Amino acid sequence: MAKKLYHGAAYYPELWNEKVIEEDILLMKEAGINVARMGEFAWHTMEQEEGNIDIRFFVDIVHKLHENGIETVMCTPTPTPPIWFTHNHPERMYVSQNHTVMGHGSRQHACTNHPYFRKKANEITEHIAKAVGSLPGVIGWQIDNEFKCHVSECMCEQCRTLWHQWLEERYETIEQLNEAWGTKIWSQYYYSFDQVPQPGPAPFLHNSSLSTMYRQFSMEKIAEFSDSQAEIIRQYSDAPITHNSNVPFSVDNERLFENLDFASFDTYASQENKASYLMNCDLWRNFKKGRDFWIMETSTSHAASLESYASPHANGYLRAEAIASYALGGEAFCYWLWRQQRAGCEQPHGSVISAWGKPTVGFQSVLDVEEMRKKVEPFMVATKPQQADIAITYSDQAKAFFQTEPHQQMDFRSLVTNFYNHFVSLGVHRDLIPEKESLQDYKLLFTPFLPYISDEYRKRAVDFVKSGGTWIVGPLSGGRTKEHTIHTNAALGELEEIAGIEALYTYPMDGTGSVGHAFGEKAPLVLWSTVFEYDEQTAVGTIAGGNSDGKAFITESKVGKGKIVHIGSLPVEEDGDSLLMKLIDHYATEAGVSVRTDVTNGTIVAPRIDDEGKQSWVIVNMDGEGGSVTIPEKAMDRLTEEMISAGRLEIGPYEYRIISF
Ligand code: GAL
Repeated sequence: MAKKLYHGAAYYPELWNEKVIEEDILLMKEAGINVARMGEFAWHTMEQEEGNIDIRFFVDIVHKLHENGIETVMCTPTPTPPIWFTHNHPERMYVSQNHTVMGHGSRQHACTNHPYFRKKANEITEHIAKAVGSLPGVIGWQIDNEFKCHVSECMCEQCRTLWHQWLEERYETIEQLNEAWGTKIWSQYYYSFDQVPQPGPAPFLHNSSLSTMYRQFSMEKIAEFSDSQAEIIRQYSDAPITHNSNVPFSVDNERLFENLDFASFDTYASQENKASYLMNCDLWRNFKKGRDFWIMETSTSHAASLESYASPHANGYLRAEAIASYALGGEAFCYWLWRQQRAGCEQPHGSVISAWGKPTVGFQSVLDVEEMRKKVEPFMVATKPQQADIAITYSDQAKAFFQTEPHQQMDFRSLVTNFYNHFVSLGVHRDLIPEKESLQDYKLLFTPFLPYISDEYRKRAVDFVKSGGTWIVGPLSGGRTKEHTIHTNAALGELEEIAGIEALYTYPMDGTGSVGHAFGEKAPLVLWSTVFEYDEQTAVGTIAGGNSDGKAFITESKVGKGKIVHIGSLPVEEDGDSLLMKLIDHYATEAGVSVRTDVTNGTIVAPRIDDEGKQSWVIVNMDGEGGSVTIPEKAMDRLTEEMISAGRLEIGPYEYRIISF
């Protein structure tokens, strides 16, 4: 449980003079900012001359903030190595997939695997940790900034050497690699590890195994970098460490957070895309289960850079976002950024204060958030998010498989977000859980868009089923091996035998006129699909028309005390959404899912419980249209302490209510 709720902003004191800094601190107090995050791009300020490190400026700022009741999250500045590091050193730079070598400027321009980068990064981090690690006011650390948000896998010479070592550790002999990747194809066959290329420029596509393994290698290396930085900080500071990540970056978040203390993410989802915002909350809560997450960056009104801008949030939306995140397990809600930048490439970005020190268009919303924060803090610290009955697996390994094999330009993130949104629309509470997370106390497990289902995952899911759980696999899950190849024993590997089903064909259903019938609904089927033999015992969704008329696309098999359900194809369009929602509703009802409400679309209910297991609901209208929900029994309004009788409760536009049962 959180001990307090933070309301913060990204702060760049290195860009301003003393007078402005003083003004900033006064204004922060006025706006209710109680934590500032700083330092992530300030390597130059800290080490103006190579080898001459001086952190005093930041030590002073930490003190000043602390004296004014503002705490600090200190960052390591490694996304922006200064000119002395980069100039005349192309070998230290990031090399893109088409072999373009980055020059100085922007950020993430260096290769994070280069030994000299690691050396200098370790040095600067050690100096910062020593200088500020035990200062009062330093309550947390952020390593680097959004790893791999602009770049993905580096193709430099250093990475090439490390790649070969990584392959040797993974495959031991080159013959095993050749076998696993099927390298006789197109005469790719290798005689030694150092012959294996990086997936750089090529006339056509690379071998799937080569591409996916390179992504895994890169995700592993960036996590190792994060691990090593965290280890240095821990020598000098007890404050917990995080990294500000997100779903689209080329990292494996589950692996990344393994050795960090708390999870945090940045979000610039527009109001229309609130599903993505909510999904992040439901996911990040589970990267460090039991520990609250942070929203490390979000915009007060609009994101923007020199080349584009988003629409500002409607008045009222920011507060809805903030209360939703606190209720879903957030300990902090922080803005990017405090004071609008007067230079650089992000001048037009929304902020709390303008470059000339006046409130921005988002300022009033920040005050509204603060007013709400103060009201709800006692409740939030006395309760914690309730575990859902339904778990949905989220995997960045799957994301890597989709990057290599997007089928038809399919984007993993949108596939998952759309699927996730059905649960929100149905008012069913849900946990997005990383692959290795325990399945304890869930009733229903969904595994959508996971091309490779590991033996370990499958075993845990099957155990879950045997002891009474329902496991819903697909769409697009299970058809690839660990090495990103096709199974040769059955289309879905071991799973078919376990479920007692037979997959006949896999092929794209787009444009075939195939229509899926299930749960009293019908909808067009598309995407890369798995078609099952029709069997009265198992078929719950059948196909009409197209190439597989009369076959099944959804099967249900009893295994032990539970069930395995396979969804072989994706029903689309409005009818497809209805079909999927019927499916979710059907299995949720059957499994006795009780953490759900009948809240109207656009409004959410975040359930929380106290130490005694007493339940409360935080109800938030997020679409500005207002909504309602049935209160099943007499309850108490936590903020007014008035009793509410059972029945329909109306919620106004962007309004929030907290009710306890
Ligand atoms: C984030 C980044 C910030 C800032 C922000 C603008 O991705 O971490 O430094 O660039 O975007 O929206």
